[in-house]
Amino acid sequence: EKGGFDHFMLKEIHEQPKAYRDTMRGRIDEAGQSVVFPGLNLTEEKIRSLNNVHIVACGTAYHAGLVGGTVIEQLVRIPVANDVASEYRYSSPLVTPETLVIVVSQSGETADTLAALREAKSKGAHVLAITNVVGSSIARDADDVIATLAGPEIAVASTKAYTSQLIAFYLFGLYLAQVRGTKNSDEVAHVIAALQSLPEQVESMLANVDAIKAYAEEIASHQNLFFIGRGMDYAVVQEGSLKLKEISYIHSEAYAAGELKHGTLALIEEGIPVIALATQEAVLEKTVSNIKEVKARGAAVMAITHEEHVTDLLRSVDQALSIPKTLPLLTPALSVVPLQLLAYYTSLARGNDVDKPRNLAKSVTVE
Ligand code: F6R
Repeated sequence: EKGGFDHFMLKEIHEQPKAYRDTMRGRIDEAGQSVVFPGLNLTEEKIRSLNNVHIVACGTAYHAGLVGGTVIEQLVRIPVANDVASEYRYSSPLVTPETLVIVVSQSGETADTLAALREAKSKGAHVLAITNVVGSSIARDADDVIATLAGPEIAVASTKAYTSQLIAFYLFGLYLAQVRGTKNSDEVAHVIAALQSLPEQVESMLANVDAIKAYAEEIASHQNLFFIGRGMDYAVVQEGSLKLKEISYIHSEAYAAGELKHGTLALIEEGIPVIALATQEAVLEKTVSNIKEVKARGAAVMAITHEEHVTDLLRSVDQALSIPKTLPLLTPALSVVPLQLLAYYTSLARGNDVDKPRNLAKSVTVE
């Protein structure tokens, strides 16, 4: 049942190229020029009338929503607010009929997410669910469903569901941009081509895990560590940090790199591991200066970046790992993979139950 893998989590990490392809299938026209969403109840007229978007979810799905929010804001230039469902449902959310509420849930059964959906609907919002289970309660109650086609996810730590949610957001963001005319057809085709290259790029990363495995064995003896990043990288390290906490039980924090000096730098001491995700060209220099801040206080920094920056970064970090190149907006679909593997191999090195971490359930159907 684990298809030759030691754990479901590793199997599911390896199923990601297929999950990307399956989630894209039927949603891109044959020429690779535009995105199609057959059967959507959300009309083009309604899309043109939208004033804002709320993205609501829990845990890993919330982290996918953070990426999705940036994607929609960048492609569509419409304001997006992200919230966790347990806060949103009690926050008397500012929802109007011109608000699109997107709820994200692998299981489609998370109690808080379902309650948030109902709250938004009662206030007149159109609610779209991105879910991996089309027969779920959330799918049933939503006005529209975009199914992620990741296949069943067994490991408690979510991997392929998260990345499939990213793919769903890329496609839906492009679709909104087409309808609202914020991206022209060449720009859309350019992003589609990059999307279609992602599965192979993930395959190439999965064929070469030795460095991340060795690094996992190094950090396995630590009690605390930090992840830092800016922009898209910040969204991804939040997911990387959650993944690591869930299954390795090591305390970790994900920080916006520029925010360190406002307090957290006090916790940086000799030898503490800091994992810096540095893929976003536009802020790379800024991230490098944050890396230098933690290095100056004795941190051991591992950077994850693109090949072309490795040599440069190695002047300021202890170790560097490279990931394949894609558009900045699409990078999360690649950069999260080494972080998933890091969590997996660290959990393994600590002798934990990878697929069934303590205190956690796969589906949280109680508040
Ligand atoms: C983390 C994890 C949880 C879930 C969260 C939401 O790996 O699995 O954080 O992401 O409980 O679950 P769904 O997506 O089923 O609503």
